[in-house]
Amino acid sequence: MKKNALVAWLALFQLLVLSPLSAIADTKTGETEQKQAGASAQEVFLVKPYLQLGESASQAVLAKQESLELIWFTTNNGKGEKWQVQSKSQSASKWSSSKSVQAFFVGKVENVPFYRYTVKIEGLAPGEKFSYKVLRNGSIAFNGSATARKSFNQPYSFAVFGDVGAGSAGEKKVIYQVTQRKPDLVVMPGDITYDQGRISQYLARFFPIVNSQEASPDKGGPLLSSSLVMTALGNHDIAMTTSWKGTDLNRFPDALGYYIFWSLPFNGPKFDYKIGQSTRNVLPLVGDETNVTNFLKAADKRYPQIGNYSFDYGNSHWLILDGNEYMHWGDEKLRTYVEDDLTKSKATWKFVSFHQPPFSIDIYHHSEHRMRLLCDIFERTGVQVVWCGHAHNYQRYFPLKFKAKTNKDGIPMMNGNGTVTGDFILDTKFNGTTQPKMKGVLYIVSGGGGASLYRRAPFLPKESEACHKFIHGMHSFTFCNINDKTLSVSQISDDGKVLDQFKVETD
Ligand SMILES: [Fe+2]
Repeated sequence: MKKNALVAWLALFQLLVLSPLSAIADTKTGETEQKQAGASAQEVFLVKPYLQLGESASQAVLAKQESLELIWFTTNNGKGEKWQVQSKSQSASKWSSSKSVQAFFVGKVENVPFYRYTVKIEGLAPGEKFSYKVLRNGSIAFNGSATARKSFNQPYSFAVFGDVGAGSAGEKKVIYQVTQRKPDLVVMPGDITYDQGRISQYLARFFPIVNSQEASPDKGGPLLSSSLVMTALGNHDIAMTTSWKGTDLNRFPDALGYYIFWSLPFNGPKFDYKIGQSTRNVLPLVGDETNVTNFLKAADKRYPQIGNYSFDYGNSHWLILDGNEYMHWGDEKLRTYVEDDLTKSKATWKFVSFHQPPFSIDIYHHSEHRMRLLCDIFERTGVQVVWCGHAHNYQRYFPLKFKAKTNKDGIPMMNGNGTVTGDFILDTKFNGTTQPKMKGVLYIVSGGGGASLYRRAPFLPKESEACHKFIHGMHSFTFCNINDKTLSVSQISDDGKVLDQFKVETD
């Protein structure tokens, strides 16, 4: 292993050394069992079990039965071990065993291999609470409970916050507050883990907090094992540096943890990627062929597929996009994908989420406008809310329509400096209480999930007029409830105070 690779894996190696595998004693049922499973989980798992929607999740939530993937990582390939997962819906009288547990070799760290385990929990009634337990050699190694994906007519809650895995006190407090509210769904619009989204950084700054078995303001909480968390790519998830030309797998061999840890639908645009070739609208990889090949094997077909995808939850449709700079959202093929995806959906609520906000008045990212190129499509297809991160604060805009400067074919244009100029039409009559119906799209930035906070830029007259609320100086998250045609939104601080609250009604 090269010297730089040794450095890159050092944090992960230390974790492995500090967390030796050990056998688990048989446990009793009840609270004692839970506590023992909690203590043992630290020793057995490199990453404790967490829930994912999976690559083949159906679009419409019309199925009579739902399923979720349960994923965990260890340093053992399963030889000499027997893993089982059992689950039980609230209304069921007995536990049922899941089918086979799949083990997948991810990579080696100082000659210590590590493995991903995946199992599908099937036969869940939509919207019903269920419990699950992971057994290793017949003993409980982990207990969890969650709610199956909601169907079209069921009310549900969800949280949105980006810019999370900084390992900060703010991240721990936000995760604790979110976990206390037990959201059915969580959407993280990018910058999942700092500073480069490396596997070692996920293990140090993300999983111990966002999947902490103990819930407390100085630890975080068991969010990933109890709620369905969906993610988008941010600039920190791709090891972006100054003069970046692609993710450098020589400098950061454990980069792109996004493609290792998240199991997301394979329904976005398909790109014909080949090693060594640069492909338009595909995250570029830089490095020796061995390092690139190792990453591709570890990502197991998820690269570049899961950068863009969509899914349904309850009566909402979510389109998740990659807003990084190698994406050209003015390209016809990509615009057609967005328009088709949003037009086809018959959901009551259409939401879009990506990292870089089209509109921001923060001090650092206010002129990064590339995602404005899609505003006309959002308006045409009836999108109600666009959720972003990137700016580490909270911003709520008036519902708006944005008329970008266009080329001769009527397609919105980006200027050479990355800005997109145009005119705003604001719905200032919307007040979220007595006037809850919107004319236009609501843009929300919720980037206070844990990273260092951003203040306001002082010199943006048009955007400042469009921005209805700007709250900075504290970590926070967005928490929502949907009941049929009513969306209730609260912005909540890391110590639980309500910072903003409003509702939206749709037709
Ligand atoms: Fe960012």
